[in-house]
Amino acid sequence: MPAEPSPSPLRVLSGIQPTGRFHWGNYFGAIRQYIELQTAGDAYYFIADLHALTTVREPARLRALVHDAAVDLVALGLDPERATLFVQSDVPEVTELTWLLMTVTPMGLLERCHAYKDKKARGLAADAGLFTYPVLMSADILAYDATVVPVGEDQVQHIEVCRDLAGTFNHLYGDVFTLPKPRLVEAGARVPGTDGQKMSKSYENTIDVFEEPAVQKKKIMRITTDSRPMEEPKDPAGDHLFALHELVATPTQRAALADLYRRGGFGYGEVKKALVEAAARFFAEARQRRADLERDPDRIEAILAAGAARARAQAGAVLDRARQACGLERRPGRGRPRAAGSARPAGGGGSP
Ligand code: ADP
Ligand code: TRP
Repeated sequence: MPAEPSPSPLRVLSGIQPTGRFHWGNYFGAIRQYIELQTAGDAYYFIADLHALTTVREPARLRALVHDAAVDLVALGLDPERATLFVQSDVPEVTELTWLLMTVTPMGLLERCHAYKDKKARGLAADAGLFTYPVLMSADILAYDATVVPVGEDQVQHIEVCRDLAGTFNHLYGDVFTLPKPRLVEAGARVPGTDGQKMSKSYENTIDVFEEPAVQKKKIMRITTDSRPMEEPKDPAGDHLFALHELVATPTQRAALADLYRRGGFGYGEVKKALVEAAARFFAEARQRRADLERDPDRIEAILAAGAARARAQAGAVLDRARQACGLERRPGRGRPRAAGSARPAGGGGSP
């Protein structure tokens, strides 16, 4: 097997599905790390509305979720001056690229992908959108010559599919695509929900990042706890209330609570109140930024328009490279004009 080419400049890319409002699991398990990576190199982040169409079937809800996701990401620290933030469906080049990739995608590869496989195993009807979901995701990545794709563990299989397809295409048609690498975001950060299971929309045990403080307080006060007597010392490790507090507390607050657990003689109600306060403090700045953004809707529109323009220029160049390589010529007066700069960047890319 030939050696991988020397690494190209770091280009970080990730997509986030707008299938619900962001909860603490999404933030601490994924979004926070994505945002931190915006300083590591050139960064592209997008709201994966085309992927969300495989689950969200109400247009008004999808529209609102896409808007909220954009506002939330900027409020949480995504810096549109540093990173390119855009909406997936604003870049039609990616769906065209999806087709080119589809022609080199073995059915068996998609049949093994877990989203489709799990649904089928549960006896549910799957549509072709869900089946080919990993091909669209591959196009998302390859269209931007991404080198690093930060994702949660559940998405690593899809990056492997992407590398496979890019490798096959390059093998057939030459050095067209850059092969990305997954960057697994901190596997230890499995955020528990209010019932102690993994926090997830599907378990209805979430604490949402930007929910109304009164609603959030109610949820926190209802977090399940055990019924051991107050006096009894308790081990903070493995206690989900403690784990949630740990996410939002300062190091001093964290240490103080750990001591309290080990000493015993406290009520869980006290801990829950401390959690409500720590959470309010932790997200106060983001909440303020969010409120400012909501008062100025033109600003988020301008951010997404600028992001889409940058993303389209990049995706257009890669699409042209791919079209030319496989024999789909662009002729004057037929179809979209060739994108500027569609030549392969120096140092990028590679064969399988
Ligand atoms: P949900 O389970 O609520 O449907 P998603 O699957 O939409 O959440 O989550 C998107 C990403 O957020 C995942 O790929 C994963 O990286 C991260 N994530 C979600 N829930 C958690 C959690 N409880 N702990 C850590 N990370 C999480
Ligand atoms: N499938 C990803 C998820 O559910 C979202 C996504 C779509 C994505 N396209 C991507 C992530 C490209 C990384 C790269 O979380």
